[in-house]
Amino acid sequence: MFTYQEMQEASDYILNNIGDQPKLGIILGSALGPFAEEIENKVVIDYTEIPHFLKTTVKGHAGKLIYGNVGDKKVICMSGRFHYYEGYDFEQLDLPIRIFKLLGVETVILTNASGGVNVEYKPGDIMIISDHIKLMGASPLRGPNKDEFGPRYPDSTFIYTPELREIALQCAEGSDLTIHEGVYMYMPGPQFETPAEIRAIRILGGDAVGMSTVTEAITATHCGMKVLGLSIITNMAAGILNRKLTDEEVYETGKTISTRFSEYVKKIIEVL
Ligand code: HPA
Repeated sequence: MFTYQEMQEASDYILNNIGDQPKLGIILGSALGPFAEEIENKVVIDYTEIPHFLKTTVKGHAGKLIYGNVGDKKVICMSGRFHYYEGYDFEQLDLPIRIFKLLGVETVILTNASGGVNVEYKPGDIMIISDHIKLMGASPLRGPNKDEFGPRYPDSTFIYTPELREIALQCAEGSDLTIHEGVYMYMPGPQFETPAEIRAIRILGGDAVGMSTVTEAITATHCGMKVLGLSIITNMAAGILNRKLTDEEVYETGKTISTRFSEYVKKIIEVL
């Protein structure tokens, strides 16, 4: 767990480098790194330079904080995120979002790759996250409440901001992307789920399954930020097709859709 002072030091370091207070933060998930190419007039900060910051250990996650313009909007973008399965505790996973908050960020776009649990979904589709299910007992808000950021018992009814979901739906009109709205089921990983787990998730109301995003969304809500969650369905979840899952499959689908996905995210940012 990080102290307020440590978070402030990290945020001050970033502010000194970028010299501005961005209102929009973006976290890029697996294989979505190419979105960073949409950012103009970039300032790039390696995670290793930022005091107290976490270290990325995952292939396909660059480990860079990128500040710049998308159209006329200033954005701060994490290319590479942190996950529970890397060995971080939930209490540590609040750090990036709290730093965003200290930088002045008011809205976050969280992107990820996920497995399709809803059998109507296909690899390459996009799911706007309407809600999530997290069955693990852990929470990024466990421990003494960080009163500087928000209340002890934050509401979770509107974590995924309805107005932003509406904007995301509208921005998809006329594009060739297939868009759904659905529930993201958080699983700890790093192993993919079993077919029985996927059947259970479907019964519980999950439409897609993944290993990220939820700690960030909960922290962002605690900080009073608006959240848009966008998930690329990179594969059908375990047991739906009678074959093994691999991370290559996740990566390859992500790569195939990443240009169109980047254009979509850019369009959303222009409207925000
Ligand atoms: N399960 C969990 N996480 C994932 C998957 C999956 O099938 N695909 C991409 N991330």
